Amino acid sequence: MSTFTDPWERKFYYLRLSITDVCNFRCSYCLPDGYRPTGGNNKSFLTLDEIRRVTRAFAACGTEKIRLTGGEPSLRRDFVEIIETVRQNPEISNIAMTTNGYRMARDVARWRAAGLTSINVSVDSLDANQFHAITGQDKFRQVMDGIDAAFTAGFDKVKVNTVLMRGINHHSLQTFLDWIKHRPIQLRFIELMETGEGRDLFRQHHVSGEVIRERLVAMGWQRRDQERSAGPAQVFFHPDYLGEIGLIMPYEKNFCASCNRLRVSATGKLHLCLFGDGGIVLRDLLQSDSSQQELQERIAHSLLQKKQTHFLHQGNTGITQNLSFIGG
Ligand code: 5AD
Ligand code: SF4
Repeated sequence: MSTFTDPWERKFYYLRLSITDVCNFRCSYCLPDGYRPTGGNNKSFLTLDEIRRVTRAFAACGTEKIRLTGGEPSLRRDFVEIIETVRQNPEISNIAMTTNGYRMARDVARWRAAGLTSINVSVDSLDANQFHAITGQDKFRQVMDGIDAAFTAGFDKVKVNTVLMRGINHHSLQTFLDWIKHRPIQLRFIELMETGEGRDLFRQHHVSGEVIRERLVAMGWQRRDQERSAGPAQVFFHPDYLGEIGLIMPYEKNFCASCNRLRVSATGKLHLCLFGDGGIVLRDLLQSDSSQQELQERIAHSLLQKKQTHFLHQGNTGITQNLSFIGG
């Protein structure tokens, strides 16, 4: 089958696959009260066999990059096997994960041996106390050790996600720049996004990435071109810095025009956008290898409903209460 495509001629090379909703952090913009199970006791997350089938369907239809997200994906006890399962698809040249970093120091070498090719780790502050206040976990040192461990394990670059928050870290640009001066880190400032549960926080702390962009440009940072399965970040480099800065600005005009990703939740629903849709059930077609063709057809057909853009500008966050169920 040909590459998944929507009515706006966008092609989807990139799948974000959530493998658990569970998280042990309590980030103020995501799970301020911690993870609470929803959906009753019979809610179970995709099994290895289901992960094998769903990733195979995407790989057969043009997907070249899969990101494992959560919740916190490394909380799955079979996480290493999940990486190995995704790796069985030769079409998938990039296997990434997004993590809060708390198991990296211990496990990152095993993840790499299993086939993981890139890591994004969340670090919203370089001050240990503030990190604790934002995440509810006193794990700053552990996460920093995890990043060092990733380099030791052979990753030549690590991406760091920093949610930009007014009054919390938006005056800390220089501290972040000093940190990446001699480290091959791509530090990505992500504009705070409004969610159903995060409305008040959004009003208090949202700040446009524009303030960072202006300062970077004034300091001589330059924009770099991106490859087709890359994310929506605008990436900047500077000759004096080993690290790079990325800006993710979902409120900027045309942000959605280059959308190249689809999402599957930990319970096997296809989500066409981070915001707004209830999800298309795929799980019934993940129960045997013989439904593969039908699965590909259902996904391809669902894409005909994909909207041109999200409705965040109108304050419409859709059904998205927080981003923990779909990994941002
Ligand atoms: N706004 C912006 N980014 C968010 N994330 C989670 N919730 C939000 C939000 N409301 C992102 C963070 C984190 C990743 C797992 O999800 O970047 O690093
Ligand atoms: Fe957990 Fe990530 Fe949400 Fe933080 S942002 S609570 S680490 S899922």
